[in-house]
Amino acid sequence: MTTLEEHLNGIDEGIKSIILNAAEKSKEIQKGFFTHNKLAGSQNVYGEDQLELDKWADYLILDAMEQSKIVKTVASEEQSEIIEIVKSEGEFGVVVDPLDGVSCVKTNLAVGTILGIFDEGNVLEKGNKMDAAMYILYGPQTSLVYSAKDGVHEFVLDSKGNFILRVEDLKFPESGTIFGSGGLRTDWTKKHLDFIEELEKQNYKTRFSGSFTADFQQILSYGGLFSYPSTKKMPEGKLRLLFECNPLSFIAKYAGGASTDGKQSILEIKPEKISHRTPIYIGGKKEINLAEKMLR
Ligand code: F6P
Ligand code: MN
Repeated sequence: MTTLEEHLNGIDEGIKSIILNAAEKSKEIQKGFFTHNKLAGSQNVYGEDQLELDKWADYLILDAMEQSKIVKTVASEEQSEIIEIVKSEGEFGVVVDPLDGVSCVKTNLAVGTILGIFDEGNVLEKGNKMDAAMYILYGPQTSLVYSAKDGVHEFVLDSKGNFILRVEDLKFPESGTIFGSGGLRTDWTKKHLDFIEELEKQNYKTRFSGSFTADFQQILSYGGLFSYPSTKKMPEGKLRLLFECNPLSFIAKYAGGASTDGKQSILEIKPEKISHRTPIYIGGKKEINLAEKMLR
């Protein structure tokens, strides 16, 4: 039985401390499903209704980053500006989606917390500059997946409150079986529709929950591809480069997969602003190669 803390031995002390701080706070976020599940009556920067839980999760993660004393800048999906932690003694930068897939709280489906870590404070950087990424998935069990470049590892929260190693060195299965695509089919571009129909011809089944973290986790387990494409209504796609696409693309890369906006690797996109959105295709290498070929 290996705990998260034991598994993190040997990696950069700063990254270790940020991952452990976030892991601790995820236990409180998880309790918030009982105590903070009403609408907050406000909207975030993207015009999405906030739950009390969104704000609660945001508060807890920001608090964890302050407590770590080594995080200098934080960009959160729930905040319109980059936060500078003046008291910090370190240089780390963190990007976070405190609660991803929040519309699934109402229906009791899995939602997540996503983080990306840069060892040099600038969070407006390409994903390729990231040094570690992690997500916590609140489902029937609470699980935690992290990568600090040396593979991708999954842990499960046990009844005593410890994250215990479940799978070491997760990899996308070579032959995938599922796909998920966001957006209205009638709003898809011709190229995207052709690509999805090609996957269907190749016997990929649809799975789409409305929670990127949960859908990503399925693709990582069963193989295949997740997409939130450019649509006629949202040419830039829906998902945010900093908080959602980059950390999960980082994890995909170290799980032997890849991600693209159709033209280039997600990890190669230089963010123009913190709210930068991008179309995304993420999953196994085989599926991403096909996507790039058909979308070009
Ligand atoms: O954070 C945005 C998000 O909730 C993702 O987790 C999810 O993949 C997507 O939006 C779902 O969008 P839609 O409601 O348009 O299907
Ligand atoms: Mn999200």
